[in-house]
Amino acid sequence: MLLKTTLLTMLLLAAKEGKSIPAHTPNSLSSISYETDFVWTGRIEEDNEPISFTGSSLQHIEAQILEHKPDFSWSRDIEPGNSRVEGDILCDISWKPSFASVFHIRQGISHLHKIHGDCVNGPGPGNCSRVSCSYRSGIWFCNDNPHPMSVPCSTFGDRAWDIIEKCYAFGDFPTDSVHGQVFDKDGWNVIVAGADC
Ligand SMILES: *[C@@H]1O[C@H](CO)[C@@H](O)[C@H](O)[C@H]1NC(C)=O
Repeated sequence: MLLKTTLLTMLLLAAKEGKSIPAHTPNSLSSISYETDFVWTGRIEEDNEPISFTGSSLQHIEAQILEHKPDFSWSRDIEPGNSRVEGDILCDISWKPSFASVFHIRQGISHLHKIHGDCVNGPGPGNCSRVSCSYRSGIWFCNDNPHPMSVPCSTFGDRAWDIIEKCYAFGDFPTDSVHGQVFDKDGWNVIVAGADC
């Protein structure tokens, strides 16, 4: 019911603004279960220009950065939770992905909060890449825009936190598990769900 109302509101808003609404994506498990490359853009040395690396995970990207700068580390601690989402948070995802462990998602969130620079995803809709995964608990960044989307990587930590806050206590979920999806008004979303890692 809530979903229907939200959808209706979005349709009305879209009609008013004269543009088509992006569908809530992805709409199946298979579309998020593969490794998709994304781009990280940032500075690996304070005074240098930002540079870009492409990989299927931040670990993969980090390995490439270490080849350039062997003493590199994601050392910056970015203030978590400054930006609360102004869009929808879905706890009851229609395509029923498996659950992630709240404990390990929290670890993923603290790691994401150390990542400076931007994560860039290719054009969508439903272009999803996994930005964090450990102990079968994944965090995905999905782009529904028809153009590439660049978002500060640490923001995915904030969004995953929004999902835990809203969805952990939702319904009859198994103990200490969570899944959910949070939609930003700029046409991208973040998914927390069980994963094969
Ligand atoms: C996502 O973007 C990448 C990079 O542009 C592209 O290669 C890939 O086909 C896109 N995937 C989907 C599912 O649209």
